[in-house]
Amino acid sequence: MADDFDAIVIGGGPGGYNAAIRLGQLGLSTACIDKRGVFGGTCLNIGCIPSKALLHASERFHEAQHDFAKMGIKAQVSLDLPTMMAAKDKVVGELTKGVEFLLKKAKSEAIVGEGRITAPGKVEVKSGGKTRSLTARHIIIATGSDVAPLPGVTIDEKQIVSSTGALSLSEVPKKLLVVGAGVIGLELGSVWNRLGAEVTVVEFLDRITPGMDMEVSKAFQRVLTKQGMTFQLSTKVSGVEKKKNGLVVTVEPAAGGEKSQIEADVMLVAIGRRPYTAGLGLEAVGVKLDNRGRIATDHHYQSNVPGIYAIGDCREGPMLAHKAEDEAVACAERIAGKAGHVNYDAIPSVVYTFPEVASVGKTEEELKAAGIAYKVGKFPFTANARAKTILATDGFVKILADAATDKVLGAHILGPEAGNLLAEMVLAMEFGASSEDVARTCHSHPTLSEAVRQAAMGVENWTMQM
Ligand code: FAD
Ligand code: NAI
Repeated sequence: MADDFDAIVIGGGPGGYNAAIRLGQLGLSTACIDKRGVFGGTCLNIGCIPSKALLHASERFHEAQHDFAKMGIKAQVSLDLPTMMAAKDKVVGELTKGVEFLLKKAKSEAIVGEGRITAPGKVEVKSGGKTRSLTARHIIIATGSDVAPLPGVTIDEKQIVSSTGALSLSEVPKKLLVVGAGVIGLELGSVWNRLGAEVTVVEFLDRITPGMDMEVSKAFQRVLTKQGMTFQLSTKVSGVEKKKNGLVVTVEPAAGGEKSQIEADVMLVAIGRRPYTAGLGLEAVGVKLDNRGRIATDHHYQSNVPGIYAIGDCREGPMLAHKAEDEAVACAERIAGKAGHVNYDAIPSVVYTFPEVASVGKTEEELKAAGIAYKVGKFPFTANARAKTILATDGFVKILADAATDKVLGAHILGPEAGNLLAEMVLAMEFGASSEDVARTCHSHPTLSEAVRQAAMGVENWTMQM
């Protein structure tokens, strides 16, 4: 087996495997190294995919219990958690195998082992006590991120879990305490809430989902509260004790004050993720990190050391699989002498709860802070025919457009299928479309997408179906 490649990619997640595939398509020889033993990274193994499998299954369980009767379907529903977990694992297994197949198709050598950069152009891979030395003109680091720890709290992945443990609990906890009202806390909190757990979410800030458009965030919190989740905002965890019958968690106001205690069977720590660069040998080769421990790069993803690049969660920007994928494509194309580019103004984000929350572009708060004059168009799902037929009328579509030019600046959707509905607004932003372009595009009836059109009409005050 040759040990010299055009490019070596360290990390086999959405950043790494997509970089190797695109480089292969462009005729470069590559190796893609991952120490996990299976490819697909955080996303496929312990992130996007297993969480979405459980979100889907638990949503169906909840629907069967609560909505079937409303539609005249009589069913006796009970939970078979081991089978639900096995179904999730099956999907993960199939998709990770799929990545190996795609790497093979791109003629990329998939190497299982821990990669370390020993010098520019040189990578050592350790696996099963053996070391292999590789060389390449280009090295792409795509080593992703890891769970941010809560000081003073040890994660055992049984009682005190990170997202990884929360994706594999062997029984439904009676009481689940979630620390952090971000994406992971609310998605996995929803899973266990639907399966029967009493879920309390403790959040340091005075709001959930920081960064999300405030109006959407408030409506989202109301919906989750209606579903049975309890929120303690402006609160921090200051200690946790393991007792015979479970956990006793001490919380206090974020600004300091009287402490109180919450009993829980399981505590999920979901306070963010941090870049993972340990053991890569970066210090020795002189690769610089930024003030948050991320690999510092230029706009072409090159670090301060020529020939060493970084993409995905280990560099700046949102920690999202599709952002990693887009950077992979752009970085690979740059390396191959093409004009790869990522439009960071049009990176969507989706919270896969029910209803979903999806957004792209600027929030109202960001536009106000930047002093940009804007117009708003809004449309509630209560007035959308399809939403009525599927009993899913919570939420609304909100479109923000430039007051002078009508160019779409942001779109925010709380509602059924929000993630899929957002795609047309992402495309609109990518093409520099106006809200009128969306409003005058024919949308099929009866679809949820008509709510997007009606919101776009609302920007110019001609919403028709309200
Ligand atoms: P990763 O996927 O983390 O891959 C990095 C890989 O590098 C890992 O497999 C690791 O083993 C390997 N590695 C690290 N160091 C070395 C080394 N020295 N040698 C060899 N290999 C090494 N994002 C979304 O867009 N949508 C979602 O729905 C979503 N859901 C999520 C749910 C959860 C519970 C979590 C935790 C994350 C979720 N994310 C989601 C985020 C998403 O998983 C990440 O943004 C994405 O995986 C980042 O891709 P990456 O390639 O940069 O890194
Ligand atoms: P997050 O950054 O989304 O949320 C963390 C939350 O914890 C924030 O609200 C923060 O204010 C709060 N917090 C921080 N310290 C705290 C403390 N000491 N006590 C109480 N609250 C505290 O991070 P999360 O949910 O862990 O997710 C990590 C990353 O994974 C996200 O950046 C996200 O991009 C990605 N992800 C994406 C998903 C998606 O796209 N659907 C799903 C899951 C994860």
